[in-house]
Amino acid sequence: MSNENVKIKFYGGEDIPLELHKVRVVQKLNLVPIERRLEALHEGGFNTFRLTTKDVFLDMLTDSGTNAMSDMQMSAMMHADDAYAGSQSFYRLQKAVEDVLKKKYLLPVHQGRAAENILSNAYVRKGNLIPMNYHFTTALAHITQYGGHIAELLYDEAYKIDSTHPFKGNMNVEKLDALIRETGTENIPFIRLEASTNLIGGQPFSIQNMREVRKVADKYGLRIVLDASLLGENAYLILQREPEFAGSSMGEVIAIMSDLADIIYFSARKLSSSRGGGICTNDLTVYRDLEALVPLFEGFLTYGGISVREIEAMAVGLYETLDETMICQSPRFIAYLVNSLTRKGVPMVTPPGVLGAHVDAMQICAHIPQTQYPAGSLAAAFYLASGVRGMERGSVSNQRDEQGNETYADMELLRLAVPRRVFTLSQIKYVEDRLVWLYENRDLIGGLRFVYEPRVLRFFMGGLEPTSDWPAKLIAKFKADFGDSL
Ligand code: F0G
Repeated sequence: MSNENVKIKFYGGEDIPLELHKVRVVQKLNLVPIERRLEALHEGGFNTFRLTTKDVFLDMLTDSGTNAMSDMQMSAMMHADDAYAGSQSFYRLQKAVEDVLKKKYLLPVHQGRAAENILSNAYVRKGNLIPMNYHFTTALAHITQYGGHIAELLYDEAYKIDSTHPFKGNMNVEKLDALIRETGTENIPFIRLEASTNLIGGQPFSIQNMREVRKVADKYGLRIVLDASLLGENAYLILQREPEFAGSSMGEVIAIMSDLADIIYFSARKLSSSRGGGICTNDLTVYRDLEALVPLFEGFLTYGGISVREIEAMAVGLYETLDETMICQSPRFIAYLVNSLTRKGVPMVTPPGVLGAHVDAMQICAHIPQTQYPAGSLAAAFYLASGVRGMERGSVSNQRDEQGNETYADMELLRLAVPRRVFTLSQIKYVEDRLVWLYENRDLIGGLRFVYEPRVLRFFMGGLEPTSDWPAKLIAKFKADFGDSL
């Protein structure tokens, strides 16, 4: 199954990401008129998380739990073994984890952040510092809940929107070494590495970099925790971009990465196109440290809060992660979208990463100060212009510091997720078309301000409002340009 040849050339020379699957089950979509889209924004506090899907045309909020499942996953769900304890479904999953991630102890949890909660509960103490390539929102929230802090150790190139660096997710090993010397190993419970660094635009790290991080970890006797939620995509980009692995298979690359980590956790909502999550390790001490926390927070150790049907889908999905034809579809669609938009002048995070296409709101909305949330504004404006729901990945997604001050994000991005095997190329072309239109009318986009700000993870349910009547002006221009088109 692994490393099937996915290089298919078109005679005409065009670089088209040809689908290597066929569609067998479909879901009807609606594109509601722009006036309804404005109402929906007001009802949802100008926060795309709060839109309901009946108002959404293409749902590019996330790939989490929205990747298309395969026929094999669906059929596996039918032979799930319902049992509170000792379910055969769990043993099939355990075998898949051992085969794919090469770790023999598995703790199932209901999703990725549950793994973060358990790891933080077990290992993070007040005043601890956790070095990482970059934070993910939920990982940071759990670490800070237990009194820990983080240090983000990327190379400068990672913060450049427009770059040709193949591995912007690499951890800065020189800074890591210096930080450990300064902080003392007793204050560092583990080093966290996130595959396909989500918040800087789905950017991978290389195996060479991971080997260097391993060396530093070994020098100081520290554990490496790998967030493997986007491991398949990171491995795929290693095959594409790291010369040493040009002829390797997905399985080989994933095995090398897994082997370099002491503890792996993941959101199965991403990794295996299912639901659920897990923590796995070959270290019995770690397993013992975490074991009691699973029944406390999640459920018994052979289901961890996941339905047995989803456990079956997860097991099959893990094996399918080794199939390059499955993994390559989303990154290739993303590259197609990013490259087309870049050619038309729209500022995008480059090189194209995984999970989604990332639009640089800081440049597009240069006239909107960070205090008025340029990425949030762009996400709302793009929904208005297209019915497409993206996600703000900027200062709205940041949390306030301990004194309650705003912390402004390094990047203000609109993320347009491309879940695996969900969209067609004409839908991607629609996204491109409407985004080019919005870019050319960017001066009409205005800012937002909070009217309701939750204390934790405010971006999920927070409510905002426009700082002026800019949405009405954008609608007027849309009508002038598109007439009665939706
Ligand atoms: N780690 C990474 C790298 C993630 O991208 C996510 C989720 C999690 C952990 C948490 O997993 O959602 O199953 O609890 N990312 C989703 C996203 C939410 O839209 O990027 P979870």
